[in-house]
Amino acid sequence: MYRSHTNGALRIEDVNKEVTLAGWVQKTRELGAMTFVDLRDRYGITQLVFGEEHLKIAKELGREDVIQVTGKVIERESKNKNIPTGEIEITVASITVLNKSKTPPFTIEDETDGGEELRMQYRYLDLRRNPLQNALKLRHKLSIEVRKYLDSIDFFEIETPYLIKSTPEGARDFVVPSRMNEGQFYALPQSPQTFKQLLMVSGYDRYYQIVRCFRDEDLRADRQPEFTQIDCEMAFVDQEDILNTFEGMVDYLFKKVKGMEIEAFPRMDYATAIEKYGSDKPDIRFGMTFNYINEETQNKGFNVFDQAESVIAIVAEDCSTYTRKELDKLVDFVKRPQVGAKGLIYVKCNEDGTFKSSVDKFYNQDDLKTWADKCNAKAGDLILVLSGDKAATQNQMNVLRLHLGDELGLRNPNVYAPLWVYDFPLLEWDEETGRYHAMHHPFTSPKKEDLALLDTDPGKVRANAYDLVLNGTEIGGGSIRIHDRAVQSRMFDLLGFSKEEAQAQFGFLMNAFEYGAPPHGGIALGFDRLCALFGGQETIRDFIAFPKNNNGRDVMIDSPSPIANEQLDELNIKLS
Ligand code: AMO
Repeated sequence: MYRSHTNGALRIEDVNKEVTLAGWVQKTRELGAMTFVDLRDRYGITQLVFGEEHLKIAKELGREDVIQVTGKVIERESKNKNIPTGEIEITVASITVLNKSKTPPFTIEDETDGGEELRMQYRYLDLRRNPLQNALKLRHKLSIEVRKYLDSIDFFEIETPYLIKSTPEGARDFVVPSRMNEGQFYALPQSPQTFKQLLMVSGYDRYYQIVRCFRDEDLRADRQPEFTQIDCEMAFVDQEDILNTFEGMVDYLFKKVKGMEIEAFPRMDYATAIEKYGSDKPDIRFGMTFNYINEETQNKGFNVFDQAESVIAIVAEDCSTYTRKELDKLVDFVKRPQVGAKGLIYVKCNEDGTFKSSVDKFYNQDDLKTWADKCNAKAGDLILVLSGDKAATQNQMNVLRLHLGDELGLRNPNVYAPLWVYDFPLLEWDEETGRYHAMHHPFTSPKKEDLALLDTDPGKVRANAYDLVLNGTEIGGGSIRIHDRAVQSRMFDLLGFSKEEAQAQFGFLMNAFEYGAPPHGGIALGFDRLCALFGGQETIRDFIAFPKNNNGRDVMIDSPSPIANEQLDELNIKLS
């Protein structure tokens, strides 16, 4: 027996018990003839006391050595209220060093001295730290509860293959050469989209899978090249059924995992989200919605506004006291190339009812009052205005709004505001290729009432598509699918596929639609993102045991890496 208890288990009630513990040496302290050792495992820390008889061996113990001790539980003289085992310690009778450790390259503490890259290289050591252990524990708990919830409402978990052919989800595929089929490649799934739809044709009317997906795209804090989805599909449902089912799941998860009730689960159509927040994933934890003040600002001689398609204002409450320096910083912020605004206009609504703006030359007090009235700004507030092309200005204002939300502490990670965004456009015009792209994916059905527009104004067609947004992050996306071969064919046509291309790539799905495909729809939630948000973080990396860095590399195993010539030959791949 290696251990009778874990290092988080013993309490004052266990005093006098003979126990055997095993774990890693967190810390040693000498105090006269005694040596104190903090012994750690994933359950906690227990203090060991070595007397004179073990002095030599205790002195030699180093950080992260793996040891096993046997001894008696005694009450501590000076208790540590901060840890659950803090009332007891173990007087060690015997010790075995199970394995010595080299000194780790960084401290295994909550606040470590190791930099990001070093910790990625020694991920197995980083994973010993509490914050990462807590993150993986949360992930585990969430996956269990997801399964419980979906099982309770008759979903089947069904695995789909990883070696498939391209699924068009908008990113690049990772491809795998086939040795047995010379010159041919598998693609790793960007999602199990087509397979889950085929499962609906097969009659498994409630499917889910917690599944790895692969996308070769640029990485960000909330994007990894391989990530996990809670992928779901249902047959004989409409949009309302799906939204209700997954609203139920989110409610359940908050209750079970965080002990929280979700108070409201609002819904907003895409057009409103863009108009009010300039984003299809608005963070609705705070207001600061957009005001369009063209009428109030144009034709007063200020050229910038006069020439603008849109003049958009937001109100930062109680910020009229912003200093020149603070305002300049905001101007610099919006002028950064990543934001791309040409400038930022402000109006301070002073406490005494007067206004001070950066465009006083063009606007008098009465003019500025009309702006304030339109924006519902009160004395003490600060109005910030951007102008230009409508879509670009909405975009820029979204970035500024979120920035101010952060600055003003309005984005509390412990407050959760979920939101459904629905009625997304079906298609998106791509200037570069000069054609339409599916905004969600090509299997998404157009809204019935917009069908006629497919021939006249495809860009205006709305889709039966929805996103689940949580605190400004897109947690999930889904749609009601096309289940009719003719409509699917028309869709591929619109997307610029020739009949032959569509048949070659998606013939299997269109053929399946001819054998009794039920109406169906589904959703996939980004599991890593969900974990990160539940953990109060924006970065998903620490909720994945072995993630990639920003260049898509695993620096621990050093991958990607070249392969041997023999392997290349076998695969018939010639590198130029
Ligand atoms: P979508 O492409 O919207 O939909 O993906 C669903 C969710 O997956 C998460 N996600 C990611 N998470 C981490 N890293 C990434 N690179 C990454 N890419 C996406 C997001 C996103 O909302 N087949 C459809 C679903 C459906 O229609 O049922 C799909 O994959 O949280």
